[in-house]
Amino acid sequence: MATITFDVPLHQSHYLSDEDREAYRDKIKSLLRSEDAVLVAHYYTDDAIQELAEETGGCVSDSLEMARFGAKQSASTLVVAGVRFMGETAKILSPEKRVLMPTLEATCSLDLGCPIDDFSAFCDEHPGRTVVVYANTSAAVKARSDWVVTSSIALDVAEHLSSNGEKLIWAPDRYLGGYIQRETGADMVLWDGTCIVHEEFKAKGLIDLKRVHPDAAVLVHPESPEAVIVEADVVGSTTQIINAAQTLPNEKFIVATDRGIFFKMRQMAPGKQFIEAPTAGEGATCRSCAHCPWMGMNTLEELAQTLETGMNEITVDPVVGERALLPLERMVSFSAGGARKKR
Ligand code: 13P
Ligand code: SF4
Repeated sequence: MATITFDVPLHQSHYLSDEDREAYRDKIKSLLRSEDAVLVAHYYTDDAIQELAEETGGCVSDSLEMARFGAKQSASTLVVAGVRFMGETAKILSPEKRVLMPTLEATCSLDLGCPIDDFSAFCDEHPGRTVVVYANTSAAVKARSDWVVTSSIALDVAEHLSSNGEKLIWAPDRYLGGYIQRETGADMVLWDGTCIVHEEFKAKGLIDLKRVHPDAAVLVHPESPEAVIVEADVVGSTTQIINAAQTLPNEKFIVATDRGIFFKMRQMAPGKQFIEAPTAGEGATCRSCAHCPWMGMNTLEELAQTLETGMNEITVDPVVGERALLPLERMVSFSAGGARKKR
């Protein structure tokens, strides 16, 4: 397989004064009303965007619930704050709605690392296998699949398919795929992709941190490397990580996922302490750099501009969309068991 490289945008820091922030919030609220629009945001986006989604009757959630929520809305416009595959998923599930995003540049290393032509050739090399792809892929890759999954249902779908005697192609995240393979024993061939945020978590640093905080539970997103997952008490999607923070008796948590999630974790489990799992190697100047550069491109300014001008509308080739709809509908209608407690 060819090595794929891509440019990672710098995190756009937008320093707004409190006054400007408030003005943007008011403007966005009024535009959401006048445009008959609902804001659907991921936990990794800016706190202010998450707040706005909640205050205006939208939703803040993991990628599966974003898809489910968007498909259920009667509003004529969905504004998806997250990365491109989330907007495309919303459009495929609701082709009649207008789907806008604060920026069309926000992509994902998993999506970029799985181009359709290479992926199609990979599938052709492994005939007879059920093709399961992660939601973090292009519409064309979804159209080539039998199932789309997110991290919250990946284990259960693999178990379900494997118990029917099906052998799987799994793409694009090799760490998630490896985790599923170890947990389920399913017969899987894996695409070699990674998330540039989660692959940076370091097992050695995590082990050291656990020694400093022996009473902390370790919550890990399954896009992380195997050596990090091994150290987890709970492995799960973003929503499952938040649920674990609420339900586990621990007062302290070490969290291996994008730091945008801390906003919701603090809201749902007030008084508990959350510590970022380390991404830093020896001698690094920062302890953790776990923030998705593409999620960080969603800003209040871009959100307001999108709503005002109607720019950044998501389009999906209708033929591709129609083919991707069946595996996506399997995803939204699948009901899963939840996160796995490791011990
Ligand atoms: P979730 O489905 O767990 O929200 O994950 C989406 C994602 O992009 C994680 O990096
Ligand atoms: Fe993609 Fe990783 Fe960013 Fe999630 S955190 S959107 S998997 S690059």
